[in-house]
Amino acid sequence: MARAKIALIGAGQIGGTLAHLVGLKELGDVVLFDISEGVPQGKALDLAESSPVDGFDAALSGANDYAQIEGADVCIVTAGVPRKPGMSRDDLLGINLKVMKSVGEGIKQYAPNAFVICITNPLDAMVWALREFSGLPKEKVVGMAGVLDSARFRYFLAEEFNVSVKDVSAFVLGGHGDTMVPLVRYSTVGGIPLPDLVSMGWTSQEKLDAIVQRTRDGGAEIVGLLKTGSAFYAPAASAVQMAEAYLKDQKRLLPCAAWVDGPYGLKGMYVGVPTVIGAGGIERIVDIKLNKDEQAMLDKSVAAVQGLVEACKGIDSTLA
Ligand code: APR
Repeated sequence: MARAKIALIGAGQIGGTLAHLVGLKELGDVVLFDISEGVPQGKALDLAESSPVDGFDAALSGANDYAQIEGADVCIVTAGVPRKPGMSRDDLLGINLKVMKSVGEGIKQYAPNAFVICITNPLDAMVWALREFSGLPKEKVVGMAGVLDSARFRYFLAEEFNVSVKDVSAFVLGGHGDTMVPLVRYSTVGGIPLPDLVSMGWTSQEKLDAIVQRTRDGGAEIVGLLKTGSAFYAPAASAVQMAEAYLKDQKRLLPCAAWVDGPYGLKGMYVGVPTVIGAGGIERIVDIKLNKDEQAMLDKSVAAVQGLVEACKGIDSTLA
């Protein structure tokens, strides 16, 4: 069978890391696309030259022309600008909305059958805009946020409990911003829910609350340290997990920014929810029963996302 074709739109920090991971995992051939001339070509060649050392077979190329992504099975979008210290993800809205327009049109023309994963921030509004501009089916356009936010939560919990990250599972719902909702009740260590671990004396409620807050601020913590850009290793790993679930029809249960119409009482919007990803794209939205406090936190997050979508409509009248 022919190898899958994976188009990476944006060949910056995340794009380059994505290409490396896709190569190492032999998920398919890679086209790195960017408006910057030479950068996608240079990164593709550098990575291709690492393939004999690591022993992976993948064709890697760089492009400045959308025609090169023709027939892609998966597109992962990181085109746009990242945050600088002191900026919120929402501050990127105006610039990155324009970028989504050109990317959406390129995908519409050359890769209309692709599974599209958006990473560009502010995530929930950008994945919505990308879906609008591309016109692809809603179950084929999804945003990467939940896997990353949950991974941060899982890492902090594994550190606190001094256990393997493999034994910690966690869920983060809602928008990819300050209002995200780490679901403590549904997060477990070896199947034991976090509230039980507090009762068992493994940690205190105060420490758990601090970990929840650190998760919410996880992106800003990295931006503050790097100063010149935002996180890229963990975001790339998270998106590759989603791409792999699609390409291998794994039916993975992963939290993503997906189109939700009905579940959680929502009437058609993109927001972070647990989903099942398989060959059909987003095959199912998992409608977890929330308690009053959790629902209130989700409502707040939903309102924040809706505010950003309205702002997009204000900037680009074709979206209204
Ligand atoms: N079309 C294609 N590529 C573009 C466009 C465009 N219209 N505009 C900018 N780019 C490219 C830039 O040339 C750059 O190479 O997007 C790339 C972005 O790379 P970085 O600046 O290194 O940013 P990165 O860290 O990869 O983050 C990208 O993901 O997590 C989000 O907030 C982050 O929105 C940001 C995005």
